Amino acid sequence: MTKTKMLRPRALALACATLLAASAAHAGGEVEVLHWWTSGGEAKAAAQLKLMMQKKGDTWKDFAVAGGGGDAAMTVLKSRVVSGNPPTAAQIKGPSIQEWAQEGVLTNLDDVAGPEHWDSLLPSVVSNIMKYQGHYVAVPVNVHRVNWLWANPEAFKKAGATVPTTWDQFFVAADKLKKAGIIPLAHGGQPWQDFTVFEDVVLGVGGADFYQKAMVKLDQGALTSPTMEKVLTTYKRVHSYIDKNAPGRDWNLATAMLIKGEAGMQLMGDWAKGEWVAAGKVPGKDVVCVAAPGSAKDFTFNVDSFAMFKIKNPANEQAQRDLASSIMSPEFQELFNLYKGSIPVRLGMNMDKFDACAKQSSRDFVADSKSGTLVPSIAHGMAVPAAVSGAIQDAVSQFWNTDSMSVKTAMANIAAAAKAN
Ligand code: BGC
Repeated sequence: MTKTKMLRPRALALACATLLAASAAHAGGEVEVLHWWTSGGEAKAAAQLKLMMQKKGDTWKDFAVAGGGGDAAMTVLKSRVVSGNPPTAAQIKGPSIQEWAQEGVLTNLDDVAGPEHWDSLLPSVVSNIMKYQGHYVAVPVNVHRVNWLWANPEAFKKAGATVPTTWDQFFVAADKLKKAGIIPLAHGGQPWQDFTVFEDVVLGVGGADFYQKAMVKLDQGALTSPTMEKVLTTYKRVHSYIDKNAPGRDWNLATAMLIKGEAGMQLMGDWAKGEWVAAGKVPGKDVVCVAAPGSAKDFTFNVDSFAMFKIKNPANEQAQRDLASSIMSPEFQELFNLYKGSIPVRLGMNMDKFDACAKQSSRDFVADSKSGTLVPSIAHGMAVPAAVSGAIQDAVSQFWNTDSMSVKTAMANIAAAAKAN
């Protein structure tokens, strides 16, 4: 006889009720998640979150809006929220989290964050960004380092060049690559990519203090200084090493040029590493990672995070809590970041399974937090409100793409964009 058959009627009724309650708790809800992770590496990383949610009995409704850097995704998000139909969660970063919270559309996550001790699991530079008026409204996924230079060692060998650590060395290497018939710098000519290269040059030429003054405090003195003049001259010189098909190219296609050895270098955040991993290559061996020229002692951080919106359906609210909790779990933090190219944002994680570049990033993140050389990426929405960075990005990109524009004009345009917003 089975155990069930031995149960008396009352006990049986109780057992059934318990079973029903348990299955209701696991019936799950739906999470609709807006993100822009559509490249090979990004999609593999995002799939880990979907799987984790499905294991919890929740349904994943993918709301992917293609477009590196997320400009297109943010436009779509605005229209959804304005029409009163926000997704469960959206990839929103930096000061934009505060802006959305001010609109009153984000939900309070303290009932998850408190019991799970997020305050002690996150660096304060990150938890501060996730909170609005002291309450968690967003959950962080990772830490991307933006100031990386990726180099194809085979291409460098062929050209007899050395991987650069200063801007002077960069131009020497670029000339050698060019002579060997290799495109020196793989670049995708989209404003956010032009801006990503620009912030690397600001940091490498000006240093972390200058970067803070110019790109975070938007100090007019710094923005119109001789240092900025040098930055812009160097930046424009970099432009001469990209290929003529760069305009409009997606960042992951630029990475593919590097993987194939058609190009020698790429200046891009470590989501580029996700593409190498997806192609079965070994970071640190098949692709060399060094800090962008002149910035070995600095770290431009870009923390991906999901802000959670106020939603009405209680089952979906529970699923939203599951999502927040899953993102912060050590299992997710490891798995996701192995695919994404970033490092876990959760403190105290074991880095054994990570590649050499991630290990270096993790060490540098800690060292740079202590030395005050950890700076927020302006090109990736971490430094200033979106309207300001958008205006500066336009001015920078216009300079990058306009042969006839002088450094003086560009400097005036950038300073004006910073002031007007
Ligand atoms: C995001 C990354 C993403 C990259 C390219 C960045 O702004 O932080 O997660 O991979 O854009 O789309």
